[in-house]
Amino acid sequence: MSTPPCATSHKSETAGHRTARAAGKPLVPRTEEITGHSLAAARRTIAESFRRAGVDNPDLDARLLIGHALALSTAVLVTQSQRALSKEEAGAIIGLAARRLVHEPVARILGRKEFWNLSLRLNSETFVPRPETETVVEAALAAVNPGLARGRAIHVADLGTGSGALLLAILSELPQCFGVGTDINAAALRCAQDNAAGFGGRASFVACDYGAALAGPIDILVSNPPYIPHKEMADLPPEVCFFDPPLTLDGGPDGLDGYRAIAAVARRLLAPGGVLVVELGFGQAAGVRLLFEAAGLACAPPQPDLSGIPRALVARPLA
Ligand SMILES: C[S@@+](CC[C@H](N)C(=O)[O-])C[C@H]1O[C@@H](n2cnc3c(N)ncnc32)[C@H](O)[C@@H]1O
Repeated sequence: MSTPPCATSHKSETAGHRTARAAGKPLVPRTEEITGHSLAAARRTIAESFRRAGVDNPDLDARLLIGHALALSTAVLVTQSQRALSKEEAGAIIGLAARRLVHEPVARILGRKEFWNLSLRLNSETFVPRPETETVVEAALAAVNPGLARGRAIHVADLGTGSGALLLAILSELPQCFGVGTDINAAALRCAQDNAAGFGGRASFVACDYGAALAGPIDILVSNPPYIPHKEMADLPPEVCFFDPPLTLDGGPDGLDGYRAIAAVARRLLAPGGVLVVELGFGQAAGVRLLFEAAGLACAPPQPDLSGIPRALVARPLA
């Protein structure tokens, strides 16, 4: 039986490492290999090392990491593509490339991730926001009762807010909206608080178990809870299992523990006419719908992400 990716230690070989070793190539280019070379040549060398190691998007990742190492924008990387690299610059690039070669995600290396129209800071305790989670933002904005959007303030809560991605994306679209993000991890909340700096006090944060410490009425309740079934944790790609904290991923024996906790508080928290929108893991729509219906909520058909996977479930309290 082959060893699942996450059952190996952080430092042990991945399939990409083994491929590179079998091909007789050094895994991490040496600083001297790019010192004095042009930016464009260094970019090709780094991208090639990523390709040999089985890194996704080798060319894009090489560009992003070189830009970050040298604090240069993409435009300047292009205009200075023939400039020769100093030894210090080459060392900085190789240092970041070495991290990517052990599958550390680019967003973790940069310490930032673009989500919706925001550039969110990350720390080691936060989940890296994923593009498919934007489906939840779209569904929540589409589900807002048009009557609510006129006049009075709208209250939103994001349970398991992490970097604040869902909450802040919604606040960025609805200027009359105030919101609270909860998380069990206080270190993640400090990051969310930093990300909320530009929101003029419209976002606050509470460390608690999902909605346990909140009071209603809440108009928009959103969540992207941890939803990986425990026994599948070992099968996740190295970018995920070695770098996203387990607390952000592990949804218990069937992956549905977070949804059970949300179902238990949803009716108490939701305003009449309020809406609950959650992200779904692959194949979880039917199970989550059953939990929500048993908790007195009516569910719409799940909304697909850009890959066509049912991703966002919208539910409302039954009258
Ligand atoms: C998949 S991450 C989602 C983070 C963020 N909402 C996003 O979409 O990028 C799940 C989040 O739930 C938090 N979490 C895990 N268990 C929790 C609990 N019992 N109560 C509140 N938050 C919890 C984790 O710390 C993590 O930030």
